[in-house]
Amino acid sequence: MSDPMLQLEEKLKELRDRRNKIEQGGGQKRIDRQHERGKMTARERIAAFLDPGTFVETDAFITHRATEFGMAAVEAPGEGVVTGYGLVDGRAVCVAAQDFTVIGGSLGEMHAEKICKCMDLAAKVGIPFVSLNDSGGARIQEGVDALKGYGSIFYRNVKYSGVIPQISVILGPCAGGAVYSPALTDFVFMVEGTSNMFITGPQVIKAVTGEEVSTEQLGGALIHNQVSGVAQFMAPDETSCFDMIRTLLSYLPANNQEDPPFMDTGDDPGRLEPGLREVVPVDPNKGYNMYDVIHSMVDNGVFFEVSKHFATNIITGFARFGGRAAGVIANQPMAKAGCLDIDASDKASRFVRFCDAFNVPLVTLVDVPGYLPGVDQEYGGIIRHGAKLLYAYSEASVPKVTVITRKAYGGAYIAMCSRHLGADMVFAFPHAEIAVMGPEGAANVVFRKEISEAEDPAAKRAEKIKEFREVFANPYVAAGRGYIDDVIDPQEIRPRVIGALELTSTKMIEQSRKKHGNIPL
Ligand code: HXC
Repeated sequence: MSDPMLQLEEKLKELRDRRNKIEQGGGQKRIDRQHERGKMTARERIAAFLDPGTFVETDAFITHRATEFGMAAVEAPGEGVVTGYGLVDGRAVCVAAQDFTVIGGSLGEMHAEKICKCMDLAAKVGIPFVSLNDSGGARIQEGVDALKGYGSIFYRNVKYSGVIPQISVILGPCAGGAVYSPALTDFVFMVEGTSNMFITGPQVIKAVTGEEVSTEQLGGALIHNQVSGVAQFMAPDETSCFDMIRTLLSYLPANNQEDPPFMDTGDDPGRLEPGLREVVPVDPNKGYNMYDVIHSMVDNGVFFEVSKHFATNIITGFARFGGRAAGVIANQPMAKAGCLDIDASDKASRFVRFCDAFNVPLVTLVDVPGYLPGVDQEYGGIIRHGAKLLYAYSEASVPKVTVITRKAYGGAYIAMCSRHLGADMVFAFPHAEIAVMGPEGAANVVFRKEISEAEDPAAKRAEKIKEFREVFANPYVAAGRGYIDDVIDPQEIRPRVIGALELTSTKMIEQSRKKHGNIPL
């Protein structure tokens, strides 16, 4: 019998050898190919994303058990996905990174099992789950077992939705049904030039519809950030992508039982912003940039925008107010006059629901002329999509603070977190106009006969517009009914919003007993 210490040495050597082999993934040739394409390997990505030296790998030794189509002889180190946990700015997260160097990161039964175990762990301990996707899709040789794998992941995406933040990062191909896991998660990040997402690729599309389109044009980062709205973030390279994810996580609680982390930003909560008196023009027909309002009111001017390139007529993103994280939703008068259309309604509703699920208070800045008129909008279902925003705001039980900076007309006024949808505190600037519609439209409808019968219809029309503006287009009618809590000097917006967020931080709300509502989809 040999020395027990030597026996252990042998066992430890075997462990090291096995681990080394797994860590080589698909081997140097495939790693080089990955680098040539400007992509990191799965392990390099995890190292770049997490705090240095904090990654703890799980299930490195899992292997597939497929035998068909020569799979019995195929070794797949790590089963094509690296899973585990680590820290981001000292806070724990679970991470799964598909390894394209191992059978193209394709997803078989056990590959999926690793991801599911990692998701289960994240949900059990209440920490975010981050999925780094780079895969050829379902491992074709594994047939229905691969499909079962996807189904199990989708099931968990849904089950843990609203329990832990889920983030998908597309760092290579993501095609076919594989796109639906990212689509079910809270946020999708893409990298310009190297990531793409589509249900059917360019060749299938050409065969079926005759359309010719490149992979990038069909499902690249810009398309999904700007046109489809599938992705919320776009980065020029992987390193900056990981920086963006870390920033996003800094605004989020680890799970739905916690509040977002407080951060002392050093910015004076009482800071007045005299420049804001100039930013929002008194003339309702003059445009201005809502970003100027946002940047001046949030801590140190730092605003982390979500869905920056999609539906630019509405702005969504995270910021801190006196150190407290909040979600900001704002109409942008510079784009489509800040109206609500299908895409803007979808974008804002989803953001509101995310914030509500994770205890992030809502700050809404309103300058909205109404819903976008048009046959396209009606045929596209603006009624259905616009209803989402009403639903999302009404349903949200987090603190809701609203500031009407100028126009707030009609149904869009109601939809933008009005008092009537449960806003806790509503402020308006002195030149705000809260009315059923703009004075021009109102005069045309109400005084049509009087105008058409007048000696000088144009002069009559101008007179009636003026009359309507004086009576209704101001904040005092709504304030007189208590729909607005206070009319404020624009320079006071920051202290007033921070004060309202502080006050409402202890908000308690009784939830009615129901399984779930039926949001218009
Ligand atoms: C098995 C796969 C694979 C897959 C890639 N590989 N995708 N093996 N199943 N789905 C293997 C390749 O055979 C190759 O192995 C290695 O991974 C690298 O792939 P390459 O083709 O050399 O890489 P590249 O040229 O970069 O092309 C990447 C690719 C292409 C565009 C992703 O591999 C591809 O088109 N793959 C098939 C995509 C696909 O049809 N997937 C199924 C979609 S259906 P070797 O040994 O040569 O290195 C689907 C349904 C999901 O996903 C349903 C969920 C509900």
